[in-house]
Amino acid sequence: MKIIELLHYGSKNNLKISERKTPVIKNDEILVKVHASTVTRVDSIFRLGHEFFARMYTGIFKSKIKILGTELSGEVVQVGKNVSNFKLGDKVFVACEAAHVEFIALNEHAAVQIMPHNLSYTEAAAVPAGALTALPFLRDAAKIANGDKVLINGASGSIGSYAVQLAKHYGAEVTAVSSKENHDLVKSLGADFVIDYKTDDFTQNKNSYDIIFDTVGKSSYSKAQKSLKKNGRYLNPVINFALLFQMLVTSFFSKKKALFVATGMRKDSDKQADLKLIKELIEENKIKVVIDKTFELHDVELAYKHVDQGHKKGNVVIKIGYNL
Ligand SMILES: NC(=O)c1ccc[n+]([C@@H]2O[C@H](COP(=O)([O-])OP(=O)(O)OC[C@H]3O[C@@H](n4cnc5c(N)ncnc54)[C@H](OP(=O)(O)O)[C@@H]3O)[C@@H](O)[C@H]2O)c1
Repeated sequence: MKIIELLHYGSKNNLKISERKTPVIKNDEILVKVHASTVTRVDSIFRLGHEFFARMYTGIFKSKIKILGTELSGEVVQVGKNVSNFKLGDKVFVACEAAHVEFIALNEHAAVQIMPHNLSYTEAAAVPAGALTALPFLRDAAKIANGDKVLINGASGSIGSYAVQLAKHYGAEVTAVSSKENHDLVKSLGADFVIDYKTDDFTQNKNSYDIIFDTVGKSSYSKAQKSLKKNGRYLNPVINFALLFQMLVTSFFSKKKALFVATGMRKDSDKQADLKLIKELIEENKIKVVIDKTFELHDVELAYKHVDQGHKKGNVVIKIGYNL
């Protein structure tokens, strides 16, 4: 089978389409023929190797990760004899590691679910990573409630586009921060108000929010806390020393909280249950999938080049298998 192999850290000439043996499944596993995956911001960071905290996970001197990719869609082509939840031909979407492969063996209790019936493989591949990050931040960490005033920074990105829609689903009033170019997009996802970060600093206007979710980690708690209500929660998925310190301090000494979740490290059973919830919301047309561009497998370098710039709209898909 084909895989996209990461040879070393860097921005050029470090991805290679290689051949590997197709995995042999165990009795409690399914084999999925991958049709589509994505290049996420996390893949871009892991490939470049520029960020200190990321290197703590991926390897200080050289990358321990040989295959990138955190989400995929595909078709079940083999079923282990003890598997009861999936059958041959099921169309599935998955949150996992090493997704840039032609076939993947997955335990039936991994973060895998039947795809929403109203999505293509291209769209379904672009759901798990963003949605399964936005959901635990808003629902579990911030305990979002009906009527909350929520500001989403980076609202046009992958996590941001799901965060806007999930916040609306939970009954919040949503202010979306993006460049002006993306205001129509974020309004189409349900945003009530928009701010252009290029001309307005949301920490400087007089508004205050129950939740500030900086999905792209461009702000800081110290600046944003003035814009939080008394029991406000500041969410940031991009870890750094200052955020760690603010989390510790606010957990003891403040009604306002700075919060981070390593969403990839949640239990598979929780992720599988959340994929089911997201599938239902998509089938009820409460969540849309935003696709920026789709690339062929052999153009994976171009896909990374686009994502590396930090301005993708929603998600960037790569076709792995059949024609989509
Ligand atoms: N904690 C966790 O477990 C976890 C899990 C997954 C991801 N993450 C992290 O979450 C971050 C975001 O991921 P993502 O996939 O959502 O990113 P993304 O899709 O690449 O974000 C792109 C968006 O960011 C917007 N943007 C760029 N600069 C901005 C600024 N200064 N202010 C406001 N918006 C700006 C862009 O909008 P414009 O084009 O309008 O500028 C673009 O639409 C990444 O750093 C990733 O590592 C953390």
